[in-house]
Order: sequence, then structure tokens, then C-alpha cells
Amino acid sequence: MFKIVKKQVLNPSIVLMSIHAPLIAKKAEPGQFIILRISDGGERIPLTIADYDRENGTVTIIYQLVGKTTRELADMNEGDSLLDFVGPLGIASHLEGYRKVAVIGGGLGSAIAYPQAKKLHSLGAEVHSITGFRNKDLIILEDEMKKFSDKLIVATDDGSNGNKGFVTDVLKQLIDEGNKYDLVIAIGPLVMMRAVSNLTREYGIKTLVSMNPVMIDGTGMCGGCRLTVGGKTKFACVDGPDFDAHEVDFDEAMRRQNMYKKQEKESEDIHVC
Ligand code: FES
Repeated sequence: MFKIVKKQVLNPSIVLMSIHAPLIAKKAEPGQFIILRISDGGERIPLTIADYDRENGTVTIIYQLVGKTTRELADMNEGDSLLDFVGPLGIASHLEGYRKVAVIGGGLGSAIAYPQAKKLHSLGAEVHSITGFRNKDLIILEDEMKKFSDKLIVATDDGSNGNKGFVTDVLKQLIDEGNKYDLVIAIGPLVMMRAVSNLTREYGIKTLVSMNPVMIDGTGMCGGCRLTVGGKTKFACVDGPDFDAHEVDFDEAMRRQNMYKKQEKESEDIHVC
């Protein structure tokens, strides 16, 4: 059993939890994920590792209340335990050797961008972080991102934080101002990652995205997380989750993401009732 040692509600739909899982904390690296199961017979859900504390043996996950299992998870409290917590899974992000990097997080994607910014900063790269949210009430991890960024710009779709715009607008402006990035990392909704990818392709800047498709086993056996990257079939769980953005077939990924919407809704309705 894996004990919840910390629970923090970051905004009305996003929750942070630190889980006591010393063996995973010992090995975890940015870009990797875990798969958890709350109880016997429950759904297995993949969540990217948002942070880890090797000394205290904890792994932090940050999740959005988007379905039955994440709502059940949010009903749990410090002191409760999860049945399964498996990881670290996936290939760690390759972050060594970059001088100047733009790290972009859209919504919950900021939680995944955060460990990337932190690691890049520790490796000596100049880090410009850009995070985007629908409105100011949804902003998360601003102080944390600031700590590990040479520059942080938080944008909101409605301008309620005084900085209206999309992350792509901010990135374009920074590039046009003369910032020479040797890498852009974009993490967030598929539509946002595709927009960043289209922009950086124009400028010829290497870009990584973290893909988060439906996952079941997390070991490359079920095929649930398959994507097309560079014309070839890849599995996000074992070949990723990071991929070269300019090679990803985003249209196919979006179609696959919507495949189980009906079942997810039915499952959530059962939970609510
Ligand atoms: Fe089954 Fe990736 S989750 S192959």
C-alpha cells in the first residue's frame, strides 16, 4: 500500500498529492510517469511525476478531476493509501547539453513542465518558462516555476491576470525579440502542443512534446497508447512519453483521444450518482 502523505488543492479542478513510494522516488527523473490504482478492480491511470524527494521517499503527482478515478482519488485524504503505485515508467527526458530552453506548460501541463524546468535549471541552462491558463483562478505552480526559471511569463486566455494571450503568442514574441532557443518543450492539451509545434517548425527550433494518450498496462503490451511518430507506430509508455513534436501525427492522436469519451462519461455518471 502507498500512503498519501500530502494533499493540496491547487485550484477547483487540480489536486496535488505526495505519495510515500521510496523505491520510485529513488529512481524517478523528469518526463517519467507512474500508473496507480486506488483499489482492487479499479481503473489504472497514468500520471506524470511532477516532483520527487529522494530523501523523504515521496513522489508528487498533480492531476485534474476529469473522470471517475481522478474524482475518487480527490475524495481521498492524507493518511489514506493507494493499492498500486507503479513506476517510474517511460523514458526520462533528455535534457543535457542545452544552453537556452523555452519550457511551455498549458493548464495541467504546467505540472509536467515544472520538473523539466527544474532539471534544466540544475544543468545550467537558461530557462524561459511560459505557462498558460484559461483564467487567473486556474493558475498553478507560479512560485515554483519562478524559482527555476530565468524568465517566467504566465498568460491567460481572458487576460484576467493582466497578461492576455496564448502561450504560442508569448513564444513567438520571445523568439522575435531575438531569443535563440536550442530547444522548446511544450506540454499541455494536444491542440496547444500542435500549435507550438507548427510555430517552432517555421523557425526550425527542435521541439519536444510529452504525449499522454490512453494507457492500460504501461509496458508496451496492450497497444492502447500507440501513436504515429515520423510515420512509424510508437508506444508512448515505452518509447516516450517525450517525442519530437515535428514528427508527431497530432490529428490521429486527437481522434484516438476522443474514442472513449462516451464510456468515460458513462463511468463518471455512475460515480456521481
Ligand atoms: Fe499499453 Fe502503452 S499502455 S502499450
